[in-house]
Amino acid sequence: MKEQMQDTWAVPERVREGSPNPIADFDGFLRARHAAEVDPDGFWLGQTHRLLSWRTAPTVGLDGGYHTVKDGPFSWFADGTLNVTESCLDANLESRGDKTAILWEGDEPGDVRRISYRELHGEVCKAANALRELGVQKGERVIIYMGMVPEAAIAMLACARIGAIHSVVFGGFSAEALRDRVRDCGAELIVTQDEGLRAGRTVGLKSTVDAALEGEQGVRRVLVYRRTGGEVAWNPDRDVWWHESVGKQSPECPAEIVEAEHPLFILYTSGSTGRPKGVLHTSGGYLTWVTYTFRTVFDLRDDDVFACMADIGWITGHSYIVYGPLANGATSLMFESTPVYPDAGRYWDMVQRLGITIIYTAPTAIRALAAQGDDFVQKYDRSSLRILGTVGEPINPDAWKWYYDVVGEGRCTIVDTWWQTETGGMLISPIAPATPVRPGSATFALPGVAPALLEPETGRVLHGPAEGHLVMTRPWPGQARTVYGDHERYVSTYFSTWPGVYFTGDGCRRDAEGYHWITGRIDDVINVSGHRMGTAEFEAALIAHDAVAEAAVVGYPHDLKGQGVYAYLVLQPGHEASAGLEKALNGVVREIIGAVAKVDIFQFVPGLPKTRSGKVMRRILRKVAEGRGDQLGDTSTLADPSVVDAIREGARV
Ligand code: WT7
Repeated sequence: MKEQMQDTWAVPERVREGSPNPIADFDGFLRARHAAEVDPDGFWLGQTHRLLSWRTAPTVGLDGGYHTVKDGPFSWFADGTLNVTESCLDANLESRGDKTAILWEGDEPGDVRRISYRELHGEVCKAANALRELGVQKGERVIIYMGMVPEAAIAMLACARIGAIHSVVFGGFSAEALRDRVRDCGAELIVTQDEGLRAGRTVGLKSTVDAALEGEQGVRRVLVYRRTGGEVAWNPDRDVWWHESVGKQSPECPAEIVEAEHPLFILYTSGSTGRPKGVLHTSGGYLTWVTYTFRTVFDLRDDDVFACMADIGWITGHSYIVYGPLANGATSLMFESTPVYPDAGRYWDMVQRLGITIIYTAPTAIRALAAQGDDFVQKYDRSSLRILGTVGEPINPDAWKWYYDVVGEGRCTIVDTWWQTETGGMLISPIAPATPVRPGSATFALPGVAPALLEPETGRVLHGPAEGHLVMTRPWPGQARTVYGDHERYVSTYFSTWPGVYFTGDGCRRDAEGYHWITGRIDDVINVSGHRMGTAEFEAALIAHDAVAEAAVVGYPHDLKGQGVYAYLVLQPGHEASAGLEKALNGVVREIIGAVAKVDIFQFVPGLPKTRSGKVMRRILRKVAEGRGDQLGDTSTLADPSVVDAIREGARV
């Protein structure tokens, strides 16, 4: 018990003092949790009335649930109507029209743009008018394939303004991956830019769109923002310059008022099987969730400068660069570059120059920066910082302590926020002023979130300290409603392993005091530098190469990236392992998935370990890749045990 106590970090005075948060201490947290538990509908109706601008205020909370999900999506606030941009923009005009909404830092240090709420409102309206003029209608899909420029956020909000559905595709995805997404959602228009700029290098974006659309009929228009001025190919029947089309529009655009459950966006994410799926989030519930969690967890103050370092192509960028901060009238940073450009001091240089008070980044970045030494941090004044956030993967206690001691100098608290693309926003997280933290633990479920741990073998609910499958027993407003165009896939992915609950795909341990420790994915999803990828996607890409007969891919522990990618390959007769072949295989992976994807370790094997019924025993492959080939457990169901000896001997860890 004593040791446990020593492992708990109390909330520093600087974080507690002056908190405007209704949840300002642990008792406040327990009270809110209780209120949300006894009357979830009343609790969330109260929050959403307080936090959002509704045209018609909703009178109903949850309708339907996990037991009815196979018959169709559940809903929140179904009789309410709104337009999410009115909460994000119009509602801020009077009280903080001149406040900076988006604070942009470009690739070169000090290349800064400040866009006030008034300016942002005008720009979004202009872009919305341009989209309308280009024929985009309510409910139609627009793909946004851009780098980290304010116009990417403006494009998202412009879609929302007219009731169109945006789908942002991360700029690191290939033409092929982009084409899949364009087809899956039936996009009418793509917004892109000539080139991206990262760490002094240009990245072709328009050229990738051109390649993705070759031979495709569906996309009528491509709207191109000019970032670098680099040469681009031009199709005059299809392509339109942003500055020409948006530039001439009126800065007023009446918002399209939609029902609470009108789709806001689709975001593609990887699962354990098949192609990425289009996770669909709707308007009223999603905005309620990100607005509430943003202000509550980060204990938002009026003069905060909030810096989420994620890319807008991931859910973190949607929820905590764009929608959550803007709906709260906060100043939100958009950062075009990388944490190590021009050197590992970039974040802290920005903290000093821009007065950042809250920083939100991924464990992989923290580990990479810690490895560069403390000097890069200590050179800069970080006294503005109050809260340090982390997201995307489990944070190891060493990285946590470095973040706490070196970056925060013990003055700041750390919020380790657990959530997923599907959850819309944070579910398990400390609330900055209220929750004593433990290094490596995401601590407790937020009010209204009902987690449970299930015994993996039986599905029995575990009580007290335990480890098992993390599930949620009841819907919350921000939960994804469906997989776009494939509700059955939504049901089978999330609600069939354990009927009646939402299956997260993560394992979790709960300690004696109820703290949650996420242990990582238990399905065939890997998390490389906070990027979520399906092993099946890698396997499909590798098999596309002529030399490969069979492929099995697993994750393995990697010091910096969290997980690395380990591929076991059986070659076709006549092909031999070589460094050249490995390079060519990664070339194929890059072409099919994109620059985000790369195999770290190849092992060429005579065969894959299979059961007599032909199922690959991935458990064995994972153990070998973890360097635990001597602890394989029961292998009696293997069709050919000799394969395992060869795999163990040839292991490259
Ligand atoms: C998966 C979701 C949440 C936005 C970014 C990733 C892992 C996320 C944590 C955390 C341990 C975490 C989980 C989850 N994860 N946050 N604080 N501690 N693991 O979104 O791409 O949908 O990935 O990321 O495994 O299931 P995503």
